Amino acid sequence: MIRLLDFEAPLFFTGAGLSSECGIPTYRGEGGIWHEYDYQDYACQRAFDRDPERVWDFHDLRRAKVAEAEPGEGHRRIVEVQRARPATTIVTQNIDGLHQRAGAHDVVELHGSLWRLRCAQTGALVENFETPLVDRRCAEDCYWRPDIVWFEDPMNRAALQAAERALRNCDVLIAIGTSGVVYPAAELPRIAVQRGIPCVEINPEETAVSAWYTHRLRGGASEMLARLIGCDL
Ligand code: OAD
Repeated sequence: MIRLLDFEAPLFFTGAGLSSECGIPTYRGEGGIWHEYDYQDYACQRAFDRDPERVWDFHDLRRAKVAEAEPGEGHRRIVEVQRARPATTIVTQNIDGLHQRAGAHDVVELHGSLWRLRCAQTGALVENFETPLVDRRCAEDCYWRPDIVWFEDPMNRAALQAAERALRNCDVLIAIGTSGVVYPAAELPRIAVQRGIPCVEINPEETAVSAWYTHRLRGGASEMLARLIGCDL
């Protein structure tokens, strides 16, 4: 097994499994959000165009769930690594902002954020808005929409470029709690392995892309991270 602190520039590639340890449900698997809510009604542009209030209610619920949660041990361990190895980067598919709340910096949010709104007409962004928002409209005929990459949306170019930069500069990749079924995010470990970079998958279960990894740790995020880091931080 490799030891994380033998590397100078770890890249953490994180997914919903990391935040599941803080009480936030994952998307797939047991208790997954997409079992209860059909994304076609709650998480795509067509649903928003059809019924923005319904999509807003769903996202208000999700924000409330995240607001009552605290960053978990896994998030805190990543911050510890970042303090010990300042070149550490984080590329997350999570939209909950828990990495930042734990004190992490250089977090690339590949799929956007629950905590940012975008005007569909002008592209104007708003952060630090009151929640639940009293007026969901930014103009007479236009709703604020969550600045999230919904199903069928194009990726955010700046975030993709930042992820590519992080990938270029890392010397080890640690994927935590992602099923590896959403592209292009899921490609990251494959690209890293092709470049000869050791890649560790932390996940209690085998995933669609497990075979790509050079190392696999079967277990929960915080426990496996502790093992990977060793105990001398
Ligand atoms: P998924 O819900 O698809 O997968 C969560 C993964 O976490 C599964 O492989 C679980 O086995 C694993 N897991 C569960 N508990 C864990 C634990 N304690 N420690 C470590 N891993 C654990 O979530 P993502 O792969 O993040 O898009 O989903 C990718 C994207 O699909 C999300 O970003 C989201 C969704 O549609 C947006 O929100 C825009």
